[in-house]
Amino acid sequence: MAGLFCGHCKREYSLDEVLWRCECGSVLDIEFEANFPIQEIMGRAPNLWRYRESIPLARDGNIISMGEGFTPMVEEDIDGVSVHLKLEYMFPTGSFKDRGASVLVSKMRELGVKDAIEDSSGNAGCAIAAYCAKGKIDCHIYVPDRAPVEKLTQIGMYGSSIERISGDREAVAAAALRAAEQGYYASHSWNPFFLQGTKTLAFEVCEQLNWRAPNTLIVPVGNGTLLLGAYIGFRDLLAGGIIDKMPRLIGVQAAPCSPLFQMFKGGLEDIPPITQGDTIAEGIAIAKPIRGGQIIEAIKESKGDIISVRDSQIQESLRMMGRVGYYIEPTSAVAIAGAKTYLKGATPGETIVIPLTGTGLKATQKMMGLGMD
Ligand SMILES: Cc1ncc(COP(=O)(O)O)c(C=O)c1O
Ligand SMILES: [Zn+2]
Repeated sequence: MAGLFCGHCKREYSLDEVLWRCECGSVLDIEFEANFPIQEIMGRAPNLWRYRESIPLARDGNIISMGEGFTPMVEEDIDGVSVHLKLEYMFPTGSFKDRGASVLVSKMRELGVKDAIEDSSGNAGCAIAAYCAKGKIDCHIYVPDRAPVEKLTQIGMYGSSIERISGDREAVAAAALRAAEQGYYASHSWNPFFLQGTKTLAFEVCEQLNWRAPNTLIVPVGNGTLLLGAYIGFRDLLAGGIIDKMPRLIGVQAAPCSPLFQMFKGGLEDIPPITQGDTIAEGIAIAKPIRGGQIIEAIKESKGDIISVRDSQIQESLRMMGRVGYYIEPTSAVAIAGAKTYLKGATPGETIVIPLTGTGLKATQKMMGLGMD
């Protein structure tokens, strides 16, 4: 049966309830049977809505889309190993977050939600603000006062209100949570419909590999919306009989803020309290990811791993990618830095996919700070 469910207290709700978390306070997940009519899918427009039967939205009329998705996947050599790069920076707002935003904001229209609240260090805020603008929904984005000016400017251009909060990312999330008591929390970390959008990355990767699963997917991890989305997507493909094995999911964190790395490597039950250092990968500087436990479970189930990388490795990867034509933001380069570590022990012939999650054009100030010539 399709619905929202809580893994903590086991309550179930209809997909049409205006809820973003369980009454017990825990995160909600979505139970939904995905279907893949392959011939029909392949005849449709090249965007993420081609997987219509696998997206839990009742009426097509509620879709809010800018033709996002079906991003190119290209082969590239990294340290002498051939990998598939999925160009997720080629989205209307410049990052993969449009996957989640298109599906979540469409669902908001279906639910009759008129006001959205979101907190973000940048990319998710840009994506929610853009799709709310397209769908004529009022939008309020809570941001850390040190958020990059490029992303703040972009959010403002979409007509969203910007609430600057001083303190760390957790303080911003707490302010948004308080505001969400009165509104609808369009949160990429809490709201399960966001993951129903990011999961389409797995469908595209599989289709672009001629309906085969890759062996390995390497992604940056902060709140885990890409990693968990990919996990849900591959699980849908497994349940639909399209693939027969869950790919290995490799999450990469920046060493100065790596709670999940520490939890995984330490075999801990909970996210450890960490002292957060500065990192150029500000998009994943999340000390307490809400879905941390789920991220670790997904990685374990896929026989994957978590890698941590230093800022110097991220910078080196940024520079290396620029030299072969990919202008990505520092948070995206985290996956490349992690891949460089992973590839040292990879099996020959392994099919490895690395999403390049966000454009470098939103990080001009940081790039200048790196003194690139
Ligand atoms: C460019 C980029 N890549 C990767 C991520 C990681 O996403 P998540 O926090 O959902 O794990 C983010 C998050 O904001 C991002 O901005
Ligand atoms: Zn509950």
